[in-house]
Amino acid sequence: MTTVTTPANTHISPAAQISTNGNRPTPAREPGLSTRALHAGVQRDPFHHSLTPPIVQTSAYAFTHTAAAVDFMDERMRTGKRSRQEYGRYGNPTVQAVEQRLAALDHGEDAILVSSGMAAITTSLLILLSAGDHLIVTDDSYHKTRVFVNTFLRRFGVECSTVPADDLAGLEAAIRPNTRLILSETPTNPFLRCIDLEALADIARRRGVLTLIDSTFATPLNMRPLDYGIDLVMHSATKYLAGHNDLMAGVITGRSELTTILRESQSMFGAVVDPTTAYNIARGLQTLGLRVERQNASGLAVATFLENHPKVRRVWYPGLPSHPDHAIARKQMSGFGGVVSFEIAGDGAAASRFVDALRLPYIAPSLGGVDSLVIQPAIISYYETPPEERLALGIRDELVRFALGIEEADDIIADLAQALNRLHL
Ligand SMILES: Cc1ncc(COP(=O)(O)O)c(C=O)c1O
Repeated sequence: MTTVTTPANTHISPAAQISTNGNRPTPAREPGLSTRALHAGVQRDPFHHSLTPPIVQTSAYAFTHTAAAVDFMDERMRTGKRSRQEYGRYGNPTVQAVEQRLAALDHGEDAILVSSGMAAITTSLLILLSAGDHLIVTDDSYHKTRVFVNTFLRRFGVECSTVPADDLAGLEAAIRPNTRLILSETPTNPFLRCIDLEALADIARRRGVLTLIDSTFATPLNMRPLDYGIDLVMHSATKYLAGHNDLMAGVITGRSELTTILRESQSMFGAVVDPTTAYNIARGLQTLGLRVERQNASGLAVATFLENHPKVRRVWYPGLPSHPDHAIARKQMSGFGGVVSFEIAGDGAAASRFVDALRLPYIAPSLGGVDSLVIQPAIISYYETPPEERLALGIRDELVRFALGIEEADDIIADLAQALNRLHL
């Protein structure tokens, strides 16, 4: 079986990334994001003339004879690089093809697929930080990220400061001589707060600090933080990128100077992606452009409907002028995504009755897939958090997070309307 050789360490334009596969001519123009989501990293594989990239489902790669193994090891020692595949944890052609496609989408030089979004965060932080380093995270970020930095990383001697996502002056003031990294989501979960990426990158560059953005909620279709000078981007590929609520994966993209460091240790950490999972991500990516376009449009329609409904107290959606970060979102995002958070004008029990009256979404803790999902964050993500701590984060019992799938917006709105109508507050 032919292996895909991934030029992981060389920066190539998205057009070239597409044209280098299988001696195809360079595309007539720099390809758009949907085109890249389909074609980047896809080798026109001569294997049985298969239109679909094969799943190379193996844990090890064979040498024809001992001398070939010796040549391979000699070359590896001399160059520090692998000229072919050796063992599943060090690389897989199906996985590498998807990594190339994800790098092209994020405008990165390289991408590393890992086994979950949390693996992308923990791997990056454990590799980039050492005992004695200081980390800054913004608040309103994914709950488990906060738990990881405040418990686990502390055990390893890494200090962490949490600063409000809307206070860049406060963030700069929190930088210390030993600050190595700033980690932020944008948009955040669940309040969709947006951090000004250009301003953040400027502060970090001036102060010699690395930046890592969790861009899961935006997707590369709506925002590409690397374009603003951010050093590394990660996504929970479990969400929009794979898009079907059927697998777990994460990805880190960025300059190859940084991803090379991550990749070397990643093969030791071992949180690799199975080739079949990689294939399913590639399959999901084929419709990313269509799905996100639909979810952006539905997100805005649903948020507008909810904002005008008397039984809804408040809506958070970055595409609404009422959102505190609407101006930042408009500056750096081309669409505002498919997650809408809102408070029912009643108590937590009323919110639960509303959620239970909905007929289309599943009550489930994820987002970005084809099926709509709904949760009350106080019940699903923050159930174990003491109520006073939860309230300090703004997570009230009546808060609902609706993650839109690809159902028609009118159907979702009709469902929301009937559930709200049945609410007697
Ligand atoms: C913004 C964000 N980052 C990271 C993660 C973790 O991703 P995963 O569940 O794939 O480990 C999640 C999961 O919900 C998330 O919402």
